[in-house]
Amino acid sequence: MLLAEVLASLRPRAGKAFFDGTCGGAGHSVAMLRESSPTGFLYACDQDGDAIAAATERIAPYAGRFELRRMNFADAAEWVPPASCAGALIDCGISSFQIDHGPRGFSFQADGPLDSRMDQRSELTAGEIVNGWSVEELANVFWELGEERESRRIARAIEAERKMRKIETTRQLAGLIERVCPRGDQLPGRLARVFQALRMTVNREVEVLRRGLAAAFGFLEPGGRLAVISFHSIEDRLIKEFMREQARTYDLPPGEPDLPHLRRDRPARARDLTRKPISPTAEEIAANPRARSAHLRVIERI
Ligand SMILES: C[S@@+](CC[C@H](N)C(=O)[O-])C[C@H]1O[C@@H](n2cnc3c(N)ncnc32)[C@H](O)[C@@H]1O
Repeated sequence: MLLAEVLASLRPRAGKAFFDGTCGGAGHSVAMLRESSPTGFLYACDQDGDAIAAATERIAPYAGRFELRRMNFADAAEWVPPASCAGALIDCGISSFQIDHGPRGFSFQADGPLDSRMDQRSELTAGEIVNGWSVEELANVFWELGEERESRRIARAIEAERKMRKIETTRQLAGLIERVCPRGDQLPGRLARVFQALRMTVNREVEVLRRGLAAAFGFLEPGGRLAVISFHSIEDRLIKEFMREQARTYDLPPGEPDLPHLRRDRPARARDLTRKPISPTAEEIAANPRARSAHLRVIERI
């Protein structure tokens, strides 16, 4: 997704190292290795065992020029040396494989267990949240991470349902939401928001993205670039804030509002290369409708 735009931003080239924190099916990783031939190096990771299996096969032809690890990009500072890379990519969210593969339990469109773990080794699943968390906690999840207006109604319906039977599958949850919410064409959006909220909770996506952005920025050498693709407003806001903070020429005391008399001057750490995010072309959206909500933002380390 946004492949040409990512390559134009990161400019993979020989003799330099790059980082792909979300290698997935290795589309971007392979392109970065190809473009940085013959001596470019890639650190690539993904937390999903299925993704690592697919990526291992696809990047095998570049043996000797990459390290591929199954890990969370939030922890990558323990692996990639500081100031070692000319470019870093984080392509947030889930892959088409994860969405379409029912047994992974990410989507209301494919039936499967309520799971939603990107890393199959972690413990918390969507099923445990849906069947175990209080109405209050569920409503907060749907409201804060799904921005879903019917969050309370859905949370109460879940509580009523699970008193009778355990909610075990994605279709069961989707059917329940369909029954209790006002009818209309908002249903697909509503289901998408609820499933997104569950997935973000299971994978602690907000906290992990914050740590991942800081780690990836730390890998950059001066002039190195960080490119981040997001798929919804919560991610995009967080990324925009992070990038603006690096481009600012002052710090604020922790927790204080941005008021001129509180600012403490310091040099900018980065240049913001995308005041407006880059969106996919009409051709890419026509070929892959899921690309329509993708946004790419890029900063360059000073
Ligand atoms: C949108 S896909 C990436 C697709 C990839 N760029 C490609 O070209 O095929 C997102 C991938 O990131 C992985 N992922 C998401 N959050 C992660 C994290 N915190 N650490 C490691 N991998 C993560 C997911 O498991 C998924 O495989």
